[in-house]
Amino acid sequence: MTDSTSTAVDSSRRSHDCGQVDRTDVDTNISLYGWVDRRRDHGGVIFIDLRDREGIVQVVFDPDAGEHFALADKVRSEYVLHVQGVVRARSDATINADMATGEIEVYAKSLEILNQAETPPFQLDEFTDVGEDVRLKYRYLDLRRTEMQQKLLLRSKVSSNIRSFLDSQGFLDIETPILTRATPEGARDYLVPSRTHEGKFFALPQSPQLFKQLLMVSGFDRYYQIAKCFRDEDLRADRQPEFTQIDIETTFMSEPEIMDITERLIRELFAKVMDVQFDTFPKMPYAEAMRDYGSDKPDLRIPLKLVDVNDLMASVEFKVFNGPANDPEGRVAALKVPGGSSISRKEIDGYTNFVSIYGAKGLAWVKVNDRAAGLEGLQSPILKFMPDETVMALMDRLDVADGDIVFFGADKTSVVNEALGALRCKLGEDLNLYTCDWAPLWVVDFPMFEKTDQGQWTALHHPFTAPSCSVEELEADPSAALSQAYDMVLNGTELGGGSIRIHRSEMQSTVFRLLSISPEEAQEKFGFLLDALKFGAPPHGGLAFGLDRLVMLMTGASSIRDVIAFPKTQSAACVMTEAPGAVDAKQLRELNIKLRQEPSAP
Ligand code: AMO
Ligand code: AMP
Repeated sequence: MTDSTSTAVDSSRRSHDCGQVDRTDVDTNISLYGWVDRRRDHGGVIFIDLRDREGIVQVVFDPDAGEHFALADKVRSEYVLHVQGVVRARSDATINADMATGEIEVYAKSLEILNQAETPPFQLDEFTDVGEDVRLKYRYLDLRRTEMQQKLLLRSKVSSNIRSFLDSQGFLDIETPILTRATPEGARDYLVPSRTHEGKFFALPQSPQLFKQLLMVSGFDRYYQIAKCFRDEDLRADRQPEFTQIDIETTFMSEPEIMDITERLIRELFAKVMDVQFDTFPKMPYAEAMRDYGSDKPDLRIPLKLVDVNDLMASVEFKVFNGPANDPEGRVAALKVPGGSSISRKEIDGYTNFVSIYGAKGLAWVKVNDRAAGLEGLQSPILKFMPDETVMALMDRLDVADGDIVFFGADKTSVVNEALGALRCKLGEDLNLYTCDWAPLWVVDFPMFEKTDQGQWTALHHPFTAPSCSVEELEADPSAALSQAYDMVLNGTELGGGSIRIHRSEMQSTVFRLLSISPEEAQEKFGFLLDALKFGAPPHGGLAFGLDRLVMLMTGASSIRDVIAFPKTQSAACVMTEAPGAVDAKQLRELNIKLRQEPSAP
């Protein structure tokens, strides 16, 4: 509450953020709070770069400031200060064009040290080569760095823009439980033991999937939530055990309508926050994405495509190629890299190692030195195993030119797709083949199911996704059924995914049965959903975006850890709080839990 009787300006109140002082403030008395980014002593004059979340401003103390000057001499990096002074224009010679506040400086009249700081474990004023573990252990210091502050500022802007868009479209923000039952999204659950129900466990939600569907049954029509999700899965640069979804669900909207509104959300977001204008996103069937890019999240910034050569390789002597070429589950594919013949043998060995991560047993290649010279103009370890006509037909199909290199993958289709799909992205990065900054698209027409190595069907999305066909057609040939699912992909990252859901219990039971979930198990795990579908469930569908991934792409970060204030390490731990941690024997007793083994020391 302000005191209406007081007219005096409170000189201790913050008048400006450090990064916001500019030319218009010249000759004004100001009051700043912040941290010491740097202190320099220039023969009798002390310069302090004072930093807060908005930026840095230079403060000058000269000996006229008396006791304050003496105090300024004691100041060290990361001390917390309150400075009052007057803004001065810098002389032309001292203007710093690299600093937002570089045209001015603050001539200090008083200084108060609000707190001291020990020497930080790493330099904060510029990016230093300190290991991520140290950065995470002292995350509160790491987050002081301008780079990190800007990322979290952008993240906040992104969620606020998303909320405004969805609010303006009539979506309601509704929270769903964190202590719940398993929600199958394909990962392991994080479990929470119940004290009041001995021997029983809650699961943390892998997504709010079932609750948002139930909200549609309740008639809430358009729902969204910026929701925390938990998945115990192998971590990568774009995966965290605890992450955030922009979760959306709608009633009575068709697949194109849902895609349209969620695409508009992303288009408006990029226009507002990044000043980037997108055209309408192209739509690509899953089968085409796998055939041409070996991936269901193709990076379309890279102009390379996989080309099938099974037919040409079916009768060559080379077993490595003719085996997969004659196997209905095999694939022989080529990846042409224009201008790639300068890739050295050593680099090819490196790429061969790279594809082996994905199970490839080798990486055959052909360099085109002089196409007009026919076979003589080609260089390769494998051409000797093929008839000349086959080699020439291969070169025609790939439409090679002098200076190209062609790589080959031959194996089970899934291995070839993964290996050459990943190689395509790696070459794009290594050779900087990008043709544009942003390449969004929709991948559509996913199959309903895929076979596991054990020969069982699993859902390509989740088991609540509606097929594009009837119950009868689905049962007749599950392998041919497509789903009404759609993924939004940006620069080779899956930003979001969703689908039209099953809203009739008969279809839901059929899908459970095909997934080898027995009626008893279905009733035990999802009885509430099956029941709800019997009470007038409307047609509904939605989508969820990964907020962390979205912000990662927008900020150009290389990992989602960089856009999460307090992320977990690669081994799903927090090195700062040392979570997960051991618990008291008493707590375990209350939960009726007995450890089979004492936890190992951290
Ligand atoms: P899905 O599992 O595809 O769909 O998740 C949606 C989006 O969430 C992001 N994401 C992750 N981000 C960081 N770390 C993770 N471990 C992680 N896992 C997923 C991705 C992904 O596209 N309930 C459905 C959505 C729906 O059908 O509406 C679901 O969760 O960007
Ligand atoms: P090899 O006869 O095994 O020495 O292989 C000859 C060439 O074929 C080498 O360049 C290998 O890297 C490559 N190669 C081997 N197996 C495969 C495979 N499954 N897919 C693609 N290339 C392969």
